[in-house]
Amino acid sequence: DRTIKIAPSILSADFANFGQEIQAIEAQGADWVHVDVMDGHFVPNLTFGPPAVKAFRPHVKTVMDVHLMITPVDPYIDAYAEAGADILTAHVEAGPHTHRTLQAIRAAGMKAGVALNPGTPAEAVEHLLDLADLVCVMTVNPGFGGQKFIDLTDKVRRLRAMIGDRPVHIEIDGGVDATTAPKVAAAGADVLVAGSAVFKGGSVSAPDVYGKNISTIRTAAQV
Ligand code: DX5
Ligand code: ZN
Repeated sequence: DRTIKIAPSILSADFANFGQEIQAIEAQGADWVHVDVMDGHFVPNLTFGPPAVKAFRPHVKTVMDVHLMITPVDPYIDAYAEAGADILTAHVEAGPHTHRTLQAIRAAGMKAGVALNPGTPAEAVEHLLDLADLVCVMTVNPGFGGQKFIDLTDKVRRLRAMIGDRPVHIEIDGGVDATTAPKVAAAGADVLVAGSAVFKGGSVSAPDVYGKNISTIRTAAQV
């Protein structure tokens, strides 16, 4: 299913109010909820771990899309399965055995994603595509929300061709807004993560702003 899905990143939500923020974005049309896990080691920022993700779970009625920016990954796979992740994405740069990691994620009952940093070529995942349900193309260097979009539409196009008729999503993460969304959608992306572009101007007491922001991105991406 290649319909465009909008996945707001709760990295841009109010950290004192995750439950209400998740409910608000889902009520306002979010297709998935994107959860950014950072370890202060693979990336220069630290967010939350399995107990927090487990606390988010009952609030998520759609799909909990967990993006791990951590190394190592393998020792934590079961903890994220237990926390209730639907999709678990690991970076191809996070260790030498992504092939094994993706197998382990599926064996733990989750969909498996593989993410690429901006400097990593599409070919890095070429031999992983039968083990992946999603490829996440980072269009910023991971670690922080609100950064400027890096135009990698070329890489997205190559990946879509490489994927062929496999049922693999291409997710874009970083700097997605109404201006950048059409470029990546036209190149073959179908899942758009957006943090600042969804949460800007809104709050749990003004949730309609989230709805407006989501539909602006969605409309722009219909190319
Ligand atoms: C970056 C995270 C992204 C980020 C996106 O390290 O993986 O998910 O929150 O935020 P924006 O949309 O503001 O670039
Ligand atoms: Zn992310």
